[in-house]
Amino acid sequence: MNYSKPLFTEHEIKARVKEIAETITKDYKGKDVLVVGVLKGACVFLSDLIRLIDLPVTVDFVIASSYVKSESSRDIQIHYSMREAVKNKAVLIVEDIVDTGFTAKHLIDLIASKSPESIKVCTLLNKKDRRRVEVPLDYVGFEIPDLFVVGYGMDYENQFRNLPFVKVIEV
Ligand code: IMP
Ligand code: MG
Repeated sequence: MNYSKPLFTEHEIKARVKEIAETITKDYKGKDVLVVGVLKGACVFLSDLIRLIDLPVTVDFVIASSYVKSESSRDIQIHYSMREAVKNKAVLIVEDIVDTGFTAKHLIDLIASKSPESIKVCTLLNKKDRRRVEVPLDYVGFEIPDLFVVGYGMDYENQFRNLPFVKVIEV
């Protein structure tokens, strides 16, 4: 295991999350916001983010996992879906990281079928070089190259989620 220095420190993440929350607060003024967190990875980011959004928000979660069927298609399985009503809500999907884009795309399509007022995506990290399907991202914490990262909710084999910073590991 490579215990290299953080890619993003606790301090850097905190400052960026505050900026994003302030932008969201402005953009959604007067709206009925439903924040949908994608578990498990987004749990830490979502917890910090919602406490800095100065608006009444409703929070819900989905649990999603992906299954690689072939080189060009990926099945996303939803193990737990939203319980809150989506109709006419301004839905904000919160992800830890958008990689191939298959998960976010699947969730956008799923939520779009429930007649929301709007759908936006907020992700802490964007691994753009790995994108396989186009996903509109409305709020991005940091752009990262094709590296595997852990910490601040993100895992490798379900470990490292509790690290307060983000670091790269060799997998
Ligand atoms: P997708 O490929 O965009 O569908 O991303 C699926 C999920 O893979 C993300 O929500 C993350 O939970 C996970 N993932 C992708 N890249 C990384 C990484 O570098 N570290 C930890 N998890 C990752
Ligand atoms: Mg995830």
